[in-house]
Amino acid sequence: MFVLGRRTAGAVIAGAVMMAGLSVAGAADEPANIIKYRQNVMKANGGHISAIAAIAKGDVSFMDQAEDHARAMAATAGDILPLFPEGSDTGADHRSLPAIWTDWAGFEKAAKAYEDAMPALVEAAASGDRAALGGALRDVGQACKGCHDDFREDK
Ligand code: HEC
Repeated sequence: MFVLGRRTAGAVIAGAVMMAGLSVAGAADEPANIIKYRQNVMKANGGHISAIAAIAKGDVSFMDQAEDHARAMAATAGDILPLFPEGSDTGADHRSLPAIWTDWAGFEKAAKAYEDAMPALVEAAASGDRAALGGALRDVGQACKGCHDDFREDK
């Protein structure tokens, strides 16, 4: 038999207990869970774009990390639409406007404009050119704002 060390066995058990705890916390894909999930994805984008902005402005000199942030955003840029299933407008506080579901085609367009702005950001980030990075960042920011203007409730 495959024998685990005592420490390893302890860690495995702790991990299993944690996962069991997570799975009873809420059923998969309940609206409240989807709302929290999509807000976390959005917050992640907010973090990456703020990090890139600090690099583009020259507040920090981590140009060699700009591409990592851009790629993280690009990797999830195509993931937005499934985060807004019909019925995910209840169960938790959120700022998604009904227009998302009454004008799904418009929402799709806004999501696509965002996704389409991403390759240029990755390219500019990889180039190491601060001005190019600033320009591509502005375009992506416009795409975020374009969607928020029409589909996110103002604070
Ligand atoms: C296709 C539409 C769309 C695009 C594109 C989009 N967002 Fe959002 N975003 C939303 C909607 C809708 C909400 C509100 C979600 C909710 O509360 O249900 C939101 C919420 C947020 C939030 C608040 C999350 C929270 O804490 O509740 C942040 C931050 C955010 N977006 C940042 C961004 C950034 C940065 C970008 C671009 C890099 C972006 N978003 C692109 C639609 C979009």
